[in-house]
Amino acid sequence: MTFSKTKMETLVKIFLWFSLCFLFSPANGDEKPSAYQVLQSYNLPIGVLPKGALEYTLDPNSGEFSVNLSSNCGFHAGSYKIKYSSPITGVISNNTLGDISGVKVKVSLFWISIETVKRNQDQLAFKIGDITTKHFKVGSFNSCPDCN
Ligand SMILES: *[C@@H]1O[C@H](CO)[C@@H](O)[C@H](O)[C@H]1NC(C)=O
Ligand SMILES: *[C@@H]1O[C@H](CO)[C@@H](O)[C@H](O)[C@H]1NC(C)=O
Repeated sequence: MTFSKTKMETLVKIFLWFSLCFLFSPANGDEKPSAYQVLQSYNLPIGVLPKGALEYTLDPNSGEFSVNLSSNCGFHAGSYKIKYSSPITGVISNNTLGDISGVKVKVSLFWISIETVKRNQDQLAFKIGDITTKHFKVGSFNSCPDCN
């Protein structure tokens, strides 16, 4: 069986058309990852954000992010009182949240900003203002605090 030249060209065009469609059609599961999945992709545990993180923006080059919670959020973590206020902003990179704004911890009478969260293997270090740095096990942050 032989194709005429034009038939052959048509077949090639159809083939290319299908290949291109395949290349450019969005893959299944190509939806925007959740804020929690973004944390994990930078090797950070999901529990550094409370439940209710919905909208976020992230510049993948600089790591600058902004995330809004469905409601503002305060809770006790052991002997600490912590509050999150939207928008929570900062710069994310592997193992680190830096330049954070929107997360505070109560130290005696004062609300002090948590400025940096840095992972070192199985430890998470929270830098609290210029005052102190507290270390916790990463495993304590495997689930998200619930504000309600
Ligand atoms: C967060 O909420 C503020 C105020 O409603 C809004 O201006 C901002 O665009 C929101 N950010 C995101 C990432 O959706
Ligand atoms: C983060 O870590 C992953 C895996 O270890 C690596 O592939 C990636 O290049 C790192 N990204 C940056 C910005 O260092």
